[in-house]
Amino acid sequence: MKKIVLLGYMGCGKSTIAQNLSKITKIPFLDLDECIEKRANLSINEIFSQHGEVYFRKLEHEMFVELLQSPENFIIGLGGGTPCYANNHELLKGENVDSIYLKASIDTLYNRLVHNKSKRPLIANMNEEEMREFIAKHLFDRSFYYNQAQHKVVVDDKSVEETVQDILGVLA
Ligand code: S3P
Repeated sequence: MKKIVLLGYMGCGKSTIAQNLSKITKIPFLDLDECIEKRANLSINEIFSQHGEVYFRKLEHEMFVELLQSPENFIIGLGGGTPCYANNHELLKGENVDSIYLKASIDTLYNRLVHNKSKRPLIANMNEEEMREFIAKHLFDRSFYYNQAQHKVVVDDKSVEETVQDILGVLA
């Protein structure tokens, strides 16, 4: 059995969808950010503020590699930037991996992130206008990496349950 890796921009729903997929498939779920926080004994915000983003990206890469090498099977929800650093996007194509890009439009992402930015150091201090511009450019820059996933599921205007069904469809 392959590890199911969910990826996509901040706010696309990776964690919620992974949890629901986990309930249905009975495959355990791990959130990469939470694994990093446990390992560092710091929140993502604290890692960024005390050690900087480069240090975070190093931990993120190491943790991702470690999880992929684990003999156990699980669903992994990545951080929004995970595929875009080190050679992580290559790992999305591994033969023990089913990687799925949860694709969301700028509007969907903006609407979800505008009230959920405090735990996200990249956008936490932006005003609404800055955030919209940032998301648009950042998503454009990152799309190359997200598109390295083996599968793509569009999440716009769908309930979590509908998205989970779509994921089960692409994995079948
Ligand atoms: C990041 C996304 C975050 C977290 C960190 C950096 C990014 O995860 O890993 O704040 O670079 O997009 P979520 O996508 O779960 O918010």
